Amino acid sequence: RLRLLLTLMTKIGIPDIDPALEQELLASMAEVEVLLRDSIEGKYPLVIETSRHLVDAGGKRLRPLLTLIASHFGDPKAKGIIEAAVVCELTHLGTLYHDDVMDEAPLRRGVESANNRWNNTVAILTGDYLFAKTSQLLADLGPEAVRLQAFTFERLVIGQITETQGSSEGKTQLEHYLNVVADKTASLISASARYGAMISGADVKIMDALTKFGEEIGTVFQLADDIIDIASDSKESGKTPGTDLREGVPTLVTLFILESSDPADAELKKILSAPITDEAVVAQTILKLRSHSALTKSRELVAGYGKSAQKHLEILPEGPAKAALVGLSQAVISRTS
Ligand code: IPE
Ligand code: IPE
Ligand code: MG
Ligand code: MG
Repeated sequence: RLRLLLTLMTKIGIPDIDPALEQELLASMAEVEVLLRDSIEGKYPLVIETSRHLVDAGGKRLRPLLTLIASHFGDPKAKGIIEAAVVCELTHLGTLYHDDVMDEAPLRRGVESANNRWNNTVAILTGDYLFAKTSQLLADLGPEAVRLQAFTFERLVIGQITETQGSSEGKTQLEHYLNVVADKTASLISASARYGAMISGADVKIMDALTKFGEEIGTVFQLADDIIDIASDSKESGKTPGTDLREGVPTLVTLFILESSDPADAELKKILSAPITDEAVVAQTILKLRSHSALTKSRELVAGYGKSAQKHLEILPEGPAKAALVGLSQAVISRTS
């Protein structure tokens, strides 16, 4: 299973990665997997089972991978790197349990979501259990690491809450959406890169560049994920397409249509302005969106943001780690096409 997982991980794929760096990263990712599983051990078998549920289901392990690559700008063998990488994945994992309750999502990582398999209470408390386990690891990483986690977690929660509310005064829906995405998703991806730099003792300028890179590529990652909710099948995403439509959560593609003044969009606008409850309408709407120009426009915007994210890599010293980040960001940008 571990081998399978790591194959999956390299699938998010860093094209043309330096072979020596790849071997080092694979070895470190194997350590991450071991610690991840050890960390969720506890006294109560049901909670171990519910926590393992999504750990075993796989996932791309993007956040720990980013921590590990970032650590190559300092001492990648420094004490605490693996722990920090696990902190990032555990935090992410906890938010997935909670997110699927909020989004009433039945499928995650290609398996039943915990709320579906058990119930909302079990899913919420499993998420909390994972956050508790995260804190236990963080305690040994020192106050600066704890502080970063605390601020990151605050943003993540605010992002999830503000998503459920419309845009506030003086902000367009698109601005609101971009703020939500930055807070709920980019915050942790940025922190994942920052941890790697921080704990490996990388230069402050490098740490700041990696933090900004993580923030912007994190936004790109979520924008792409929202496009995938419309454009891909569950075979590819491991999730049920149309979740955002059912929840009435506007995302990039639907926002473009909601803002359109083209009379041809009038009917679609009406459908998109509220949660869609009828499954037949969800299916029809997905088909309409897949051939709509808003999808192309969204992909172009994502590519533009992606280029801007990559600019932060320019000041990094040349070498395999920098090349890996360029390759990884390219994969994140082109994930929707
Ligand atoms: C899913 O994240 C939630 C988002 C922030 C889009 P991932 O797409 O990284 O999920 P896994 O870890 O691969 O399952
Ligand atoms: C997930 O956002 C963000 C967090 C888990 C913090 P979404 O709800 O858009 O992601 P998916 O599509 O369920 O993975
Ligand atoms: Mg969701
Ligand atoms: Mg959500």
